[in-house]
Amino acid sequence: MTNKLKYFIGNWKMFGDLGSIKIIFRINRFLNTFKKRNKVVLCVPNTLIHYFTKKIKSKNIFIGAQNCHQYKNYGAFTGSVNALMLKNAGAKFIILGHSENRSDGDTNHIINKKIESALKQKINIIFCIGETIREKNKGKTFSVLRNQIKGSINKIYNPNKIIIAYEPIWSIGTGKIPKAFELRKIFKFIKSEFSKIFKKKSPPKVLYGGSVNDKNIRFFSSIYDIDGFLIGASSQSAKKFIDIIKNYYK
Ligand code: 13P
Repeated sequence: MTNKLKYFIGNWKMFGDLGSIKIIFRINRFLNTFKKRNKVVLCVPNTLIHYFTKKIKSKNIFIGAQNCHQYKNYGAFTGSVNALMLKNAGAKFIILGHSENRSDGDTNHIINKKIESALKQKINIIFCIGETIREKNKGKTFSVLRNQIKGSINKIYNPNKIIIAYEPIWSIGTGKIPKAFELRKIFKFIKSEFSKIFKKKSPPKVLYGGSVNDKNIRFFSSIYDIDGFLIGASSQSAKKFIDIIKNYYK
């Protein structure tokens, strides 16, 4: 196995309270003794970002957010939080374009505006794309992914601030994962689409997300183009999250 930097990013979704800091402390203790080249990010609810960033003074763990409003300034948007506010709270990363937010109404255009506003605050983007099972069965995976990428990514953006997460919607929370040959083709496709936009030689970082756990992680380590993982349910437990990292390198 190569010593390429790997990302292990947790998406806590609607989980966690102040006491959940103990999960982060435990992951941090593990990372202090683990010598592989990892980047660990935990994207937590907005209510926890400030508290966690103050408590965790570690080079090993970054705290991120899960979504933001697209409007760049303060405004009359009841219940919303924008990138400026998240930056202020301490977020270094943000998940945008997650299918759970797309199904709540986020269009490519809105996601494009969100990315722009988060980049303005110098927050790193985790940009999610993925197809439904219907689209997959109709052979539309590549056109769906191309449309999501082209609809939200402008060539003037700084490509070094954008990580892509391929999350097939049919895999999220279902225990189902794609086959190795599918992943190899899809990862090559995503990397080449990005390289076309940015005319850049070094390919972007692309993560896999969808039902990743401590048992199936070994399967993914044989796929060279995967630069890391976006992990939902299994990131809500320190033990499971640590076991994912450990087992990946076994
Ligand atoms: P699960 O790992 O729970 O399937 O969730 C994946 C996900 O949506 C991460 O963003």
